[in-house]
Amino acid sequence: MPENDQINPYHITPAQLQWQDNDVPCASQFDDIYFSTNNGLKETEYVFLRHNQLAERWQLFKSDEFNSEESNSEEKPIFTIAETGFGTGLNFLAAWRLWSQTAPLSAQLHFITTEKYPLTKQDLKRALTAWPELAEWSKQLIDQYPPLIPGHHLLAFNDNRVQLHLLLGDANNSLQQLLTTDRLDVNLRQAFSVNAWFLDGFAPAKNASLWNDELYQLMARLSAPNATVATFTAVGDVRRGLTACGFDMRKAPGFGQKRDMLCGRFNSNDNTVRLSSSTPPSSHRTKGIKAPWAHTPKTPTGRTAAIIGGGLAGVTTAYALAQRGWQVTIIERDTKLAQGASGNPQGMLYTKLSPEPGVLNQFTLSSYLYALHYYRQLVSENIITQEMFDFCGVLQLTHTEKEQKLHQQLQSLFSSQSEWVQFVDRSQVSKIAGIACDYAGCWFPQAGWISPPDLCRQLANHPLIKTLTLTEAIRLERVHHQPQAQWQIHTVSEEGPTIADIVVIANSRDAKHFQQSQQLPLKSIRGQITLLPTSRETEQLKTVICHEGYLTPAINHHHSLGATFDNGDTNIEIRVEDHQRNVESLRQVQPQWLSSTINLNELEGRAGLRCTTPDYMPIVGPLHQHEQFLVDYAGLRKNAHRNIETPGSYYPGLFINVGHGSRGLTSTPICSQLLANLIDNAPPPLPRQLLQALNPARFVIRDLIRNKV
Ligand SMILES: Cc1cc2nc3c(=O)[nH]c(=O)nc-3n(C[C@H](O)[C@H](O)[C@H](O)COP(=O)(O)OP(=O)(O)OC[C@H]3O[C@@H](n4cnc5c(N)ncnc54)[C@H](O)[C@@H]3O)c2cc1C
Ligand SMILES: C[S@@+](CC[C@H](N)C(=O)[O-])C[C@H]1O[C@@H](n2cnc3c(N)ncnc32)[C@H](O)[C@@H]1O
Repeated sequence: MPENDQINPYHITPAQLQWQDNDVPCASQFDDIYFSTNNGLKETEYVFLRHNQLAERWQLFKSDEFNSEESNSEEKPIFTIAETGFGTGLNFLAAWRLWSQTAPLSAQLHFITTEKYPLTKQDLKRALTAWPELAEWSKQLIDQYPPLIPGHHLLAFNDNRVQLHLLLGDANNSLQQLLTTDRLDVNLRQAFSVNAWFLDGFAPAKNASLWNDELYQLMARLSAPNATVATFTAVGDVRRGLTACGFDMRKAPGFGQKRDMLCGRFNSNDNTVRLSSSTPPSSHRTKGIKAPWAHTPKTPTGRTAAIIGGGLAGVTTAYALAQRGWQVTIIERDTKLAQGASGNPQGMLYTKLSPEPGVLNQFTLSSYLYALHYYRQLVSENIITQEMFDFCGVLQLTHTEKEQKLHQQLQSLFSSQSEWVQFVDRSQVSKIAGIACDYAGCWFPQAGWISPPDLCRQLANHPLIKTLTLTEAIRLERVHHQPQAQWQIHTVSEEGPTIADIVVIANSRDAKHFQQSQQLPLKSIRGQITLLPTSRETEQLKTVICHEGYLTPAINHHHSLGATFDNGDTNIEIRVEDHQRNVESLRQVQPQWLSSTINLNELEGRAGLRCTTPDYMPIVGPLHQHEQFLVDYAGLRKNAHRNIETPGSYYPGLFINVGHGSRGLTSTPICSQLLANLIDNAPPPLPRQLLQALNPARFVIRDLIRNKV
């Protein structure tokens, strides 16, 4: 690994390409070509698509012969392919095209792929010009191609029916992040699994380190019963390695001039013996990974969902589920959606970077990059329209010594990321902002503001979403109807309880009122924004400015100036002294921007309650059974390192999505995708480290370790 990667966790070495005959990409790192322009697409179709029998398997999804063994869900077809070596994405594009031609609209394709040396966007564009017949698909891939930062990037196409999980980093490390625990017991199978493998990482002779036993072990642990595998190589070591992990392998005639290739099928019965007798490779035993408590069960069957709470968390979750075919009911106690914290007219889509390593910053970055893509997609689909947002960019001012030091550190870490973050001097800040400004800054050109109430209303317009307003949920009860158990949501309303197969608690701090979630350590932070009339100076403001607070470009001659922070205060009346605090906070930085005639008593604004957690991470995932955790993991009180193999007990079909603090616009999109994928038993869009860091059970585990419960 180049030295740089070790120093800078945000750096990944891009592919060094040479172009043979002008258009054949060749990787200098491996001295090998990605494909031949004569027949590369045909080779992909022959080796990977045909030898995994994809067309035949996907056509069955259309008929009555839908076999739930071929899917992660018993209700609908969800098919997962995993690949080593994304390269130019040719395999993905060919598989996606075939999927579009063969699978029904109700089906969902997940394509998980790993890449250690990703192509730059420019190189990707050039490489894919070789395939005009794939232009319809490659254009969409290029549009969404993420910045080159290590980790899990989710790209969603066709209304979320095709999801590309692009895992930037070494194949073994990336695939390992898809396992929910290190336990090898086959009875503890993952909720999602892989149905077909594409092994495509340059020839073993040129890239021996990729083709290793650890990889084959990981494949076995991630495979569905009867998962298939195909690879262009016929090398004996590869065949033996896969056979040793439970794959029945055979040689098949190779493509073109190549004599042989390998294909095979996972034999899950055989695997019982092989995997349970092995131990995980030492490189897998990293901190926070061996956590059987975080192993979450498969979601029970059903297709109806109830979401409690109609703010950003609830509505984005409802929309993600509706896109996946769930019938969703949003239960909201207020007169309309987004009247709680999500009710401000302009919410900032922004992030706060930090040089500190750790899950919080990893989540902050992943959620921000995903949110940029999520909202642009909604704009392109006309779901949010011109007057509801402005991606005008956000400038974070370097207005204190502390910020100056921070921005210097960030600049050295993110110097190669100018596509989405830049460090600009004072004159550039003034130019970008459209008004004179006294500081340098950190510039996020793709950020901006969105109206959360408009967003919620538009998302809830989905035909599969029904909204019940003026309906307060008071109690959740699991009832055992035939043929399967369901949830009853008892409400304060004349109509009877709502019944659903699954429930998502998304009512922010009020999650404390349900027996199942009352133990969660949720905190309230009051905040007030001020609607500040424009001054002569600020009228021309073109971007959002962040200092201690923020100032938005004006709409209807008013800026949103925010916001106060008051821990534990739960009163939401508007206060004149809070307007004063907002105004003073701006005066500290840019006094000349304020008009001399502000009458605090005449200012309007809005107050709300943020909901936050002790570690500042949201709480997202299946809801654990608190009392059972106290029993099962009692041993942690005496020995924090005790290895307790009991898997965690979770309420079947009960999920939660709360604790979005002061950045709900940024954090809710990825959390909604995470929840919807978990609910569908599909691959999660975040690595397991983050799944554990978001898991509601983390607090009781920590409290047991500290002997606090
Ligand atoms: C002053 C202020 C400024 C902010 N600025 C920004 C910003 O610029 N950018 C940003 O990203 N974030 C900002 N935030 C934070 C952001 O608003 C929150 O992170 C986000 O709104 C949280 O959404 P939520 O859905 O979790 O909560 P809420 O929006 O509070 O939604 C919870 C909903 O649940 C409903 N409910 C509660 N109990 C029940 C029940 N029992 N039954 C039925 N319904 C129930 C409530 O009525 C409410 O509608 C700000 C917050 C405040 C207070
Ligand atoms: C033959 S190319 C893949 C071609 C690709 N599937 C396509 O459709 O264009 C092999 C890819 O594997 C990647 N690779 C090599 N070693 C790797 C590793 N250890 N982990 C992840 N990717 C790796 C290379 O960088 C290269 O992009």
